[in-house]
Amino acid sequence: MKKTGFLLFALTCLACVQAAAQQTSVKDIDRKVNELLAKMTLEEKIGQLQQRAGDISTGTAVAKDDLMSQIRSGQVGSVLSNTSFENKIIMQRAAVKETRLGIPLVFGFDVIHGYKTIFPIPLAQAASWDMGMIEQIERIAATEAAADGQDWAFAPMVDVSRDPRWGRVMEGAGEDPYLGSKVAAARVKGFQGSDLSSPTAVAACVKHYAGYGFTEGGRDYNTVDMSDQRLREMVLPPFEAAAKAGSATFMNAFNTLNGVPASMNKYLVSDILRGEWGWSGMVVSDWNSFGETIVHGAAADETDAAAKCLNAGSDMDMAGSTFQKGLKNALDKGRVTKAQIDEAVRRVLRFKFQLGLFDNPFVRLDPKRRAETLEKPEYRQFSREAAAKSMVLLKNEGGILPLTEKSPFKRILIIGPYANSHTNKDYMSFWTLGLGMRYYDSTKVVTPAMALKPQLEALGFSVSVQEICLDATCTEKDLSVAIQAAREADLVIACVGEEGLNCGESRCVSDLNLRDNQEQILRVTSRNNKPTVMVLFNSRPMTFQWANDNVPAILVAWQPGFEAGNALSDVLTGKVNPGGKLPVTFPRSTGQIPLYYNHLKTGRPQEIFGTMWTSGYLDLPSTPAYPFGFGLSYTKFAYSDIRLSKSQISLTETLEVSVDVTNTGGLAGDEVVQLYINDVAADIARPVQELKGFEKVNLAAGATKTVTFKLTAADLSYWNQNSKRKADPGKFTVFVGGNARDVKSAGFELK
Ligand code: GLC
Repeated sequence: MKKTGFLLFALTCLACVQAAAQQTSVKDIDRKVNELLAKMTLEEKIGQLQQRAGDISTGTAVAKDDLMSQIRSGQVGSVLSNTSFENKIIMQRAAVKETRLGIPLVFGFDVIHGYKTIFPIPLAQAASWDMGMIEQIERIAATEAAADGQDWAFAPMVDVSRDPRWGRVMEGAGEDPYLGSKVAAARVKGFQGSDLSSPTAVAACVKHYAGYGFTEGGRDYNTVDMSDQRLREMVLPPFEAAAKAGSATFMNAFNTLNGVPASMNKYLVSDILRGEWGWSGMVVSDWNSFGETIVHGAAADETDAAAKCLNAGSDMDMAGSTFQKGLKNALDKGRVTKAQIDEAVRRVLRFKFQLGLFDNPFVRLDPKRRAETLEKPEYRQFSREAAAKSMVLLKNEGGILPLTEKSPFKRILIIGPYANSHTNKDYMSFWTLGLGMRYYDSTKVVTPAMALKPQLEALGFSVSVQEICLDATCTEKDLSVAIQAAREADLVIACVGEEGLNCGESRCVSDLNLRDNQEQILRVTSRNNKPTVMVLFNSRPMTFQWANDNVPAILVAWQPGFEAGNALSDVLTGKVNPGGKLPVTFPRSTGQIPLYYNHLKTGRPQEIFGTMWTSGYLDLPSTPAYPFGFGLSYTKFAYSDIRLSKSQISLTETLEVSVDVTNTGGLAGDEVVQLYINDVAADIARPVQELKGFEKVNLAAGATKTVTFKLTAADLSYWNQNSKRKADPGKFTVFVGGNARDVKSAGFELK
């Protein structure tokens, strides 16, 4: 007993020492910040609020003015999107040795799905529902980015979206705020680690605050208008989770929210983020989004824009000149105070202290560490595993997959625009800036053909490859090649989808169908019932109604990154039993958008397609092609009925929800057991389902596992019409299953 007591005492002391140390360091940093601030001129202060573009434009044209002279004259606090390690050393040396106060620069970069080693796109990673994997991906990405001189990642993007026409759906975690919150926290922890001053840590930057995923028409940068109720319930939870996880910075969004541009939206930045959530980090604009408040028509000129953005609580001007041109005037005219400018500068300086840049401005500019770190083989191996875990099997009629020695096929054809592409960042996305923009070494990418041909031949298959419809346009010649090639095959693997460069920001589409009649490939290869596997390389939900009805096997591979081919081969040959689950609803048609699982019931829900006087269409069922949370396996899982620990709980009690999940097939496999609730009768209409828990389990063939979730009144609460988060007593239904549609249910009551 004595020993345990002593151990407990020692641990408590250690925790106190650590907390005290942290407290000291915070106090210590604030003291140093204030000492430095007191020495600064107004120009030097405004200089710290300036982020200049490096050698890549990820928005409007990069300013051509001379960056080095601005750095030397103390007009620059940060540089973004610079891909040259050597140039960053030169710039940092100029900032530290050639300016009056020697304040170091902080380098920011878009680290969206890997830095030099490219991983599956974030939406694909979310389909793994594996938070440990996601955190580890960001840990690797941070290690590479920091080794290459980047201090700050402009990620995670946590925008919930229900509109796949929007090109940036690929950057987030899909349509659900609960899953989005778990992913957001995992990414922040992965980037920042436990010590922001570590040479392998980069600061996170939660974006885009807020509402960007709800732009009208799915068109980038467009208008966002929503109730406070929807903002609180659907948009803000991942941002709050990221703030609570300790993200050092936030980024404004481009859009207006209810008429007010996010960069000058005091309600968002000051009242909620800094006020309600008590977050004290630094807010950077998006690319010239301060200046764009003038274009929005919500500011008259730079002075007005500078005043409104600073007053809202935003601190740093990315790739714009609004603060440079307008902030001094705003001060002279009394639109802002010296104290407000000081507070913004304090946040920037504190951020740099936290990153260790004052202790060592070259902490992430170490050539030796760079040489040892970039593109380690184990990073690539992890990318392969992550890509395989992210793939989602939508159809597998007749058990066509996996392809093994036992398969009845001998001759396999791999065909399509993405059978063996080495261009246009295929299998990746626009957001792989660390590889360079146009001319990057695409030999690093393992294509489907490069992996599948040898790996299937090793299993005894004969394999042919036909690259057709290159640049995703299918000609008559392409189709005649496809007809001929399919005749000589027993099984066709058709690799279709989206060009990598067409995935990401400013890549919105009006039609979600496979582009440029790629579906024709499937039609011709499927003739005479030739077994066809459709492999989709996509950055968003897409529609493929004909394939849904006619192609026996469909695998969503997303944009899988460097190891696309090996991951695909691991899944198609069964080395990896696919366990991915959709983080976004796949609609039948673009016309159904927005279509999402956590919708309200309406007063006239359409239970049966075609029922008059109900909410639906004449020409299409109002159900999706594939629901949120959906994904098949090469094995099958059975769910017992739900067992509840109580039939009712009080506001202070916990309800336990249990099910037995059994692997009834012949292969071990992963299953994501999902828990949803419905508030049957509340003070306002509530979603028909809300995800409130999930657990990813791996079960051997024939094995059973009891999965138990805990629910409290907090899980049942919502942002009500009195702007309070509370649970309404009354009936609730709980659902458990392997997706949002195929569920078991049970009822309970909150007293
Ligand atoms: C872009 C994006 C933002 C990115 C920034 C810097 O326009 O909206 O997500 O981090 O500019 O590249």
